[in-house]
Amino acid sequence: MNARLHLPALEPLCHDALPAHWTGRPPFAVLRGAIDRALASIDRNLAHFGDAFPAPSSTGGVYPAMGNTEWTNGFWTGMLWLAYELTGAQRYRDAAENHVRSFHHRQAGRISTNHHDLGFLYSLSCVAAYKLTGSEMAAEAAMGAARLLLERYLPGAGIIQAWGELSDPAQQGRMIIDCNLNLPLLYWASDYSGEAAFRDAANQHIAAAARHIVRPDGSTFHTFFFDPASGAPREGKTHQGFADDSCWARGQAWGISGFPLVYRHNGDTSLIELSKVLANYYLNRLPADGICYWDLIFTRGGEERDSSAAAIAACGLLELAKNLPLTDPLRTQYERAALGMVTELSQRYAQPGMPGSGLLAHAVYHKPNRIGIDECCIWGDYFYLEALVRLSRTWEPYW
Ligand code: GLY
Repeated sequence: MNARLHLPALEPLCHDALPAHWTGRPPFAVLRGAIDRALASIDRNLAHFGDAFPAPSSTGGVYPAMGNTEWTNGFWTGMLWLAYELTGAQRYRDAAENHVRSFHHRQAGRISTNHHDLGFLYSLSCVAAYKLTGSEMAAEAAMGAARLLLERYLPGAGIIQAWGELSDPAQQGRMIIDCNLNLPLLYWASDYSGEAAFRDAANQHIAAAARHIVRPDGSTFHTFFFDPASGAPREGKTHQGFADDSCWARGQAWGISGFPLVYRHNGDTSLIELSKVLANYYLNRLPADGICYWDLIFTRGGEERDSSAAAIAACGLLELAKNLPLTDPLRTQYERAALGMVTELSQRYAQPGMPGSGLLAHAVYHKPNRIGIDECCIWGDYFYLEALVRLSRTWEPYW
């Protein structure tokens, strides 16, 4: 599969894109301390939340508790699996397996499943469980979720519709950049079941994302509309960004990380080249401490950072770098950037813990709708821990 015949030009990395103090030398004690503090926070929150889940974003740094009905519930389960991998401690596995039962119930009853975020939900909970423990119950739940996700595939447009009823005129034919992270569930489902339909839909969707969500300058639209019947591309629109023609920072981070994660499954090297284009655009627009504002249109002062986008980007840069030849000078730059971002996050963004509190402060959920501004976001915590795991060991992604 060739996702894109004409890649946007690769913007050269500015000589001062990465802060000078990001030397690329791993500060081992800092990383070890960050992992220890993350594990202590997970232990506190395990006692605090019990069978409940943290809400998508915090209030005053503390997550309200909720049931398994949001698009974000898998991030907490994913953190428990990461903690289990880091320590081998049974308490994390027991809690994560409890969640898997809840996720099985959720897909079987179609409880809040009418959106594309089934990949976020089930890759980090049930696919992770299957990969780590071989649980057939987890595999059955993940297969059920993959079938629900495939129901959202619009063959005319070759995309998975992000949100809402397929008949909803306001949402019809809309794809969003975040969906890159939902596609690994479909590839997993094809591998597990031998059914090609999941993989074929994912291949069509990623090709459409490469062609239409990525702009010629290497930035991204958050969302893009197609005519659902004819499949004709219509227009790019933002949802959580500053403007239709700006670049929402987290969307760019979903792109940097999602294209290489799909490459893992379909081997299309153009997705690696595309991720480099997005990475350079992102890195060239960072403020002095290397942690992005919530939209990349802002490069200095007066706006909130999105630490969660930085954590996602760090994981994406590490996934991208490992697929580049040693002779590619960008490989070292991306590793240096990821290490620098994670170090910065651990030293200036990770917050002191109390029961229910998030790991990473200063994220933004949805600025235009005034939700979770300068708060913790549960996916930021997940990707921060994933980045720490990636930096501390060889790790097989749940994606
Ligand atoms: N996927 C939704 C978000 O990043 O806020």
